[in-house]
Amino acid sequence: PTTRHYDFVVEEAIGAPDGVEKLMLVVNGQFPGPTIEANAGDRIVVNVTNKLPNATAIHWHGLYQNGTNYYDGTHAVTQCGIPPGEWMVYNFTFDGYAGSTWWHAHADTQYTDGVVGALIVHSRDEQVPSYDGDIALQLSDYYHGLSADLLEYYFTPGGIEGGPGNEPVPDGGTINGVGQYGSHNSSFFNLTLEANKTYRLRLINPGTFVPMQFSLDNHLMTVVEADGTAVEPVEVSSVSVAVAQRYSVLLKTDQPAGAYWMRAELDSTQFTYDNPGCQMEIRGVIRYGVSDDTMPDVALLNNPPSLPSGSPAELDESDLVPVGGGPAPEPTFTTYFAMSMQFENPEDSNSRYLAFINETSWEPLNRTASLFAHLGQSAPSGSANYEVSQLITTINDISVVDMIIDNVDDGDHPFHLHGYKFWVMASGGGTYQGQAVNNTAPPLRDTVVIPAESWAILRFVADNPGYWTFHCHIQWHMSAGLLFQFNVLPSKSAQFDIPQYMLDQCSR
Ligand code: C2O
Repeated sequence: PTTRHYDFVVEEAIGAPDGVEKLMLVVNGQFPGPTIEANAGDRIVVNVTNKLPNATAIHWHGLYQNGTNYYDGTHAVTQCGIPPGEWMVYNFTFDGYAGSTWWHAHADTQYTDGVVGALIVHSRDEQVPSYDGDIALQLSDYYHGLSADLLEYYFTPGGIEGGPGNEPVPDGGTINGVGQYGSHNSSFFNLTLEANKTYRLRLINPGTFVPMQFSLDNHLMTVVEADGTAVEPVEVSSVSVAVAQRYSVLLKTDQPAGAYWMRAELDSTQFTYDNPGCQMEIRGVIRYGVSDDTMPDVALLNNPPSLPSGSPAELDESDLVPVGGGPAPEPTFTTYFAMSMQFENPEDSNSRYLAFINETSWEPLNRTASLFAHLGQSAPSGSANYEVSQLITTINDISVVDMIIDNVDDGDHPFHLHGYKFWVMASGGGTYQGQAVNNTAPPLRDTVVIPAESWAILRFVADNPGYWTFHCHIQWHMSAGLLFQFNVLPSKSAQFDIPQYMLDQCSR
């Protein structure tokens, strides 16, 4: 294992990923930000300098941070945030993780404005078939507005069509930072590959709101990884990647030499009002056996060629079977959560529209409360809401935890657990009524969609000490309070050696 050093400068910048200029928040002037690529077991040292006007924190999605929970990068949970003008060094290893993931700002809605990047962990032990080339594709929705403004519209009446609680509808999307918007941009993210090879495409959705449906004209793909878990190969025609999820697909360049459209389509079923300008499908180009300026036929843009009949369908995420998967251990600790989204004051449709889990709506509060609580110290003044806004389940001994979740909201929610992967034991429509689980070889991942008006049981082995958040990864929903925490093995985390300067940042 080696140690890899990175310098990240988080700053404002003008960008135009889809041809429309806007103020963005970026790392090192890039959108998406720098890719971190390493081998399992490597140590990563990232010096993050904050040039934003607000505190920031960088989260390494999907990593376990075993023993380094304080480097998990969750503002108002595991750290108070890097104050404007200051820096912090994240220092951790890729303990046991192999596969595709990403990093992103985990403070306010900053990542919506561009603070995202790919994180690729190679491992010889990863049980995926061999391939000749490896490419990360970040597919995400995209907004022309600044996220802080959009969030205010989401909360309050008057800003967004239909009133509060209607998630801002994106203006389009990007593939690796390149999108199209009407006639504003005629460039496409494009790749020139070699013919008759097998490529691993790592599909990552670092977006804010909607799933992105990925396909490549005339080609099928084989799914071999989901959220850092190698899966039994499944051949598909397209893959829907929800916010924060990742899939690796193997692509064979075995069709006639030429250029083909790749497509990433926004899932409009999630939209609650019409944004007529929204670019619903983002295009890119994959070519092989031809010169690197060859473009596909524009006539096909709106008339995608159909696949031969009998071709496989899109991926069904509940079909995924981990390689070598088997039954999960039996639960020793069961928790129940009901989540809903509603007006803060149900009588008043002018009140804020918030998310509630077991009647608690998370608030990041001031920059100090959570970390001080984490240290077992009483929170400083200004955090009076600590008790009412923080839903924390404490697990004192290593346990096999079942989270039973009822989503009584009329929207889909991609839920993510920090510091762990969970088994998706069961799910279904309506509310949980004691249904049985099918424990043959359940999917194992870190982000799963719990559909509207549905329930699910997620199981994990709570053996990694620290404060770990569980939240909906739709930024609007997390900001509305759809987040709770597990406090795992507090007697161990009390011994963490948290750098003094991180604590000092709490009092700024
Ligand atoms: Cu992608 Cu709370 O994380």
